[in-house]
Amino acid sequence: MKVESVMVTGANRGIGLEFVRQLSRLSEPPKFIFATYRSSDTLKDLKELEESSTKTKIILIKMDVTNPEEREAARNAIEETVKERGLNLLINNAGVSESQLFPHLTCENLELHFRVNTVAPIMVFQTMLPLLERAADQQGSTGALSVFRAAVLNMASLTGSIANAGVIFRRDLVVPAYKMSKAALNMAMRVVATNVKDKGILVINMCPGWVKTAMGTDKAVLEPEESIWTMINTLPTLNESHHGTFVDRKGNPYPY
Ligand SMILES: NC(=O)c1ccc[n+]([C@@H]2O[C@H](COP(=O)([O-])OP(=O)(O)OC[C@H]3O[C@@H](n4cnc5c(N)ncnc54)[C@H](OP(=O)(O)O)[C@@H]3O)[C@@H](O)[C@H]2O)c1
Repeated sequence: MKVESVMVTGANRGIGLEFVRQLSRLSEPPKFIFATYRSSDTLKDLKELEESSTKTKIILIKMDVTNPEEREAARNAIEETVKERGLNLLINNAGVSESQLFPHLTCENLELHFRVNTVAPIMVFQTMLPLLERAADQQGSTGALSVFRAAVLNMASLTGSIANAGVIFRRDLVVPAYKMSKAALNMAMRVVATNVKDKGILVINMCPGWVKTAMGTDKAVLEPEESIWTMINTLPTLNESHHGTFVDRKGNPYPY
């Protein structure tokens, strides 16, 4: 995969951090990675990557994905760097998962999941759209991402599959709000994908698998290295037929 610029939300730990690490160490890495975080208290690992990166300029941006002013400020900061080249790849990664069981669900728990996991990825996409459009419009660019010059990769979850709810993922019934918000994310991006169909921006909802992170817990089956490496290698193989779809980390379709 050859891209000039990538934005990763929630890049200070877990899957987001591993994306920054692996992208910056590709044989042909992006020129710029815009890595967002919420609190400077959580920046140790990301700062180490920023300081040790030789070929890629890793630019740290403070952005709570639910905060409109911070989203705008992030767009302006990215624009200052990429200028007319635009942004090639947005990785909508930031997410939350907090256990709370029916019939003890609270509005706060439900709203938190929808705010962070569903509404924010759409709003980040909408805010970055002018920059993604610019990248998509570039002619003769070598920064190709399969047949697309721009893409939005949303971190989806098989736990958001309605077809599988309570069938093979009984354990995940302890996070109903998370499941609902990820199912809604799939629909949201399916709709948005149709809106940008003619703009040359690939939209994809990809499940990373069950990954050992704070969210995935140490019971998960995949190391972050393996999951992210697979996704990075899958991205350039995607084409128009994948636009707006829900897939696993290898690009195979998942049922909604
Ligand atoms: N791990 C899995 O098995 C798995 C499976 C399927 C899908 N996913 C998805 O993959 C993504 C990353 O998951 P992970 O396992 O890496 O989780 P994680 O280790 O819990 O990391 C979550 C990241 O999201 C950030 N975040 C949370 N709320 C935010 C907000 N309002 N604004 C900005 N950033 C925010 C966190 O920042 P702070 O450090 O500031 O909290 C952190 O960087 C999520 O969307 C998740 O749903 C994960």
